[in-house]
Amino acid sequence: MTRVLSGIQPTGEIHLGNYFGALRNWVTLQDRADAFYCLVDLHALTILDEPGVLAERTLRQAAILFAVGLDPLRSTVFVQSHLPEHNQLGWVMECQASVGELSRMTQFKDKSARRSGEHISAGLFTYPALQAADILMYDADEVPVGEDQRQHIEITRDLAIRFNSRFGETFVLPTAVHPAAGARVMDLQDPTSKMSKSTDSDAGLVNVLDDPAVILRKFKRAVTDSETEVRFDRATKPGVSNLLEILSACTGVSPAELAGRYHQYGPLKSDTGEAVVELVRPVQQRYHDLLADRAELTRMLRVGADRAQAVASATLARAYAAIGMLPRN
Ligand code: TRP
Repeated sequence: MTRVLSGIQPTGEIHLGNYFGALRNWVTLQDRADAFYCLVDLHALTILDEPGVLAERTLRQAAILFAVGLDPLRSTVFVQSHLPEHNQLGWVMECQASVGELSRMTQFKDKSARRSGEHISAGLFTYPALQAADILMYDADEVPVGEDQRQHIEITRDLAIRFNSRFGETFVLPTAVHPAAGARVMDLQDPTSKMSKSTDSDAGLVNVLDDPAVILRKFKRAVTDSETEVRFDRATKPGVSNLLEILSACTGVSPAELAGRYHQYGPLKSDTGEAVVELVRPVQQRYHDLLADRAELTRMLRVGADRAQAVASATLARAYAAIGMLPRN
């Protein structure tokens, strides 16, 4: 069976871009793949400056993953820091990566530019090596991620190829897979930028846990254009096209076909808002139910960690043996 691995940062929130760009696809993959999903709290350390918040965010993020439909019986959902193997293989991968190729990572360039004048951790720089370890650890064939992660999967492949040629066949080469539909949800206030929590204002950002009234308001205020015609055209009508694409992702009807059903922006905005509210309502209910029983959530994550560790410890041992490290006896 195809092995799949993906990771998500434990921000404690997910927005529509995360959901349509990645998470919904994670849920679908459970039916045809052996899926591993990792809450990458070690990655969150690269820009964490607030003490004491990560545990709660991680638990909430786990609740969201289960609430959107990940099934602990079919998927292995676990927390990265629960397995020291990630740090261990992460170091091995740091030693495969070159400073030059890490310097070319666009995510590093963007994130460090945004923090200019502030503390920029070395972890932010070596981040792709840890991500490569996350993926290679599980012999993942496929990595379902948003388009923005393409370069990270590329470097993972490069590091695996380099390791395999230096030390012998050890790692499976993974492929990035991007969901066909709804992969790119744009900011409702700035529809030429991807919906992202790093934007200053949250008026254009819709979280899956937002109150329904807030969601409807955000869609009502979505930026469109000064024309009146509803047409699907990303280049010249980014706002309207984004609404059509979100509505399409909710309904399964193509954006072009939906465009033919609307003659005014107002109804398109309110219908899209309503469709999103209908989509998130049961997710919010399950989320609150899950959080009401933290002992059970914790137990679900322990089951995931145990299953993940069985694979991870074997891969780490294989990598150390391939290099030729002295085993502890
Ligand atoms: N870098 C990913 C992101 O920012 C998160 C991530 C960490 C990840 N490890 C991973 C994604 C392994 C896929 C596979 O979204």
